[in-house]
Amino acid sequence: MSALTPLAERSAELRVAGVEPVGPYTLLRVAAGPIEPGSPGQFFMLQPPGRVLPRPMSLCLYEAGELCFLIDPIGPGTRALCALSPGETLGVLGPLGNGYDLEVPNPLLVGGGIGIAPLPYVAQVLGDVPAILGFRSDRHAEAAALLPGAEVVVEPALVTERIPAGPVDILACGPEPMLEAVRRIAPDAQLAWEAPMACGYGACYGCVVEIEGRLQRLCVSGPVLRAA
Ligand code: FES
Repeated sequence: MSALTPLAERSAELRVAGVEPVGPYTLLRVAAGPIEPGSPGQFFMLQPPGRVLPRPMSLCLYEAGELCFLIDPIGPGTRALCALSPGETLGVLGPLGNGYDLEVPNPLLVGGGIGIAPLPYVAQVLGDVPAILGFRSDRHAEAAALLPGAEVVVEPALVTERIPAGPVDILACGPEPMLEAVRRIAPDAQLAWEAPMACGYGACYGCVVEIEGRLQRLCVSGPVLRAA
């Protein structure tokens, strides 16, 4: 399923297959049905029943025909997603946007907090790949179990202190200060950014950000952008 696949073919009402706590986060498992997982770093719009606005979520894992999303229940929309029960349905639109370029010689995954969400799927596709994950507490760091073998740091330690000096191709996702710090260290890094999104496919202009001096829609130009 490419970016040119009509939106109607990327939209479906899907069944919840499981809801699992992961530290303070929730891993929502959804039977994929006709929806394809796309490439790592792309995102999906998830709409729980009764909510007007869907929420953008990158795919965390794709296994056993299930799309898995790691969700931080910080607002009404995300809390509604985390409150779903197996057997209930939700609206799913995706995959959307541009993911990571995986054709790099020395990939290093760098994630912070809920921003680790797309990285387990990157590792699924790339195979054995080094990763550094940062969290604000030991409880949040329980989410590192989704990426076995990753180096884990907990505040006040920072992921940027652990990035090796040698040539690496950084694929990162995390809070904006972390991405800015990674950008200063590695101008070639690929960074997955966040912005408020209402549609996910370029129609609402709710996700406009300034990129290289021009206003662009993050859902169309990103969410993964080169740091430079
Ligand atoms: Fe609507 Fe990007 S989310 S234009």
